[in-house]
Amino acid sequence: MNVSTGLQKSLLDWFSKNQRDLPWRHTYNPYQVWISEIMLQQTQMDRVAIFFLRWMKEFPDLQTLAKSSEDRVLKCWEGLGYYSRARNILKAAKLILTKHQGQIPDSRKLLLVLPGIGPYTAGAIASISFNRNVPVVDANIERIFARLFNIELRQKTPAAKKLNWQKAEELLPVGEARNFNQALMELGALICRPKNPDCTACPLSSHCLALQYGIIQERPVPQKGQKTIPIEMATGLLLHDGLIFIQQRLENDVWGSLWEFPGGRLEKGEKPEQTVVREFLEETEFKVQVESKITTTVHHYTRYKVTLHCFLVSLYQADPDPVLHAAQEFHWISFESLQNYAFPAGHRKLISYLEESGLFSHKPPGKPD
Ligand code: ADE
Repeated sequence: MNVSTGLQKSLLDWFSKNQRDLPWRHTYNPYQVWISEIMLQQTQMDRVAIFFLRWMKEFPDLQTLAKSSEDRVLKCWEGLGYYSRARNILKAAKLILTKHQGQIPDSRKLLLVLPGIGPYTAGAIASISFNRNVPVVDANIERIFARLFNIELRQKTPAAKKLNWQKAEELLPVGEARNFNQALMELGALICRPKNPDCTACPLSSHCLALQYGIIQERPVPQKGQKTIPIEMATGLLLHDGLIFIQQRLENDVWGSLWEFPGGRLEKGEKPEQTVVREFLEETEFKVQVESKITTTVHHYTRYKVTLHCFLVSLYQADPDPVLHAAQEFHWISFESLQNYAFPAGHRKLISYLEESGLFSHKPPGKPD
């Protein structure tokens, strides 16, 4: 048995005994594998399992999805972030219906043409769903290879990427891509973790060069420091006649087609209260006044740390019709109806805060439900 055959066998044996029971592993249906892989690109497995089941209830198959509105798709994606991924899923579903008779292609080449499907996702669908002999490399696999082969290249550099894909291809046992690729990902998630890897339980420990040299903690070589960029924003919950003003962002915007309360970034020397008044005027031509501060939410988005100052505002004019400059549509809605719309994370946190604080609850205080 040569070295790589021994390594492959140890890993496959370990996977057959230790793999997690995940909803899409029951049938390996290509539609389910595709959706799970896109969700997993940004979210932890335990949370994905919940989102995945909710998605499959709403859009049980590709045909149902392809015929759904973008609004429903975005709503179902709410909480996962990176909304262009949800929009691309819908675009790809429509293309698969018209160009591939509703069948998700099994070849990497055809998959790569679809919106939102890059080398990783194409490899994952082709191998996990169709067991095609196609390699995959994700962050888990990069970390395993850096340790296993003692790769000294800085993570994410073009040279490291090229080497990792080459290694993944060389290691892949013919006819076993489904289990082997998943086994690598599973090993990265459960054993070869970023911090505190469990080398004593690792089926590859006898092959691992970094373990042999005692330098597990030094692999992978980290990327050059990426600084977090702080951003300060302000938004206003405009209340008029018991209804709340929301607007739908433009289609090709960062959070395209999501709903929001007007607002934006603080300009130099500006106080958040001033930002809200200015942004309302610029975005809607509404003249508003700030009534009170509600809360401040903080959330992390890629390299950004977004601090959002949230205010309650009221109209300083009689006419409740806006002139939209930064949105495609607007609604005046009840507090309860906020749950029917998809909002970006910061605004959704504001809504959750309001729900928890009971500020909009109509129940008299102290009375049980
Ligand atoms: N991470 C992304 N896809 C995965 C999969 N199919 N199994 C385990 N971890 C994953």
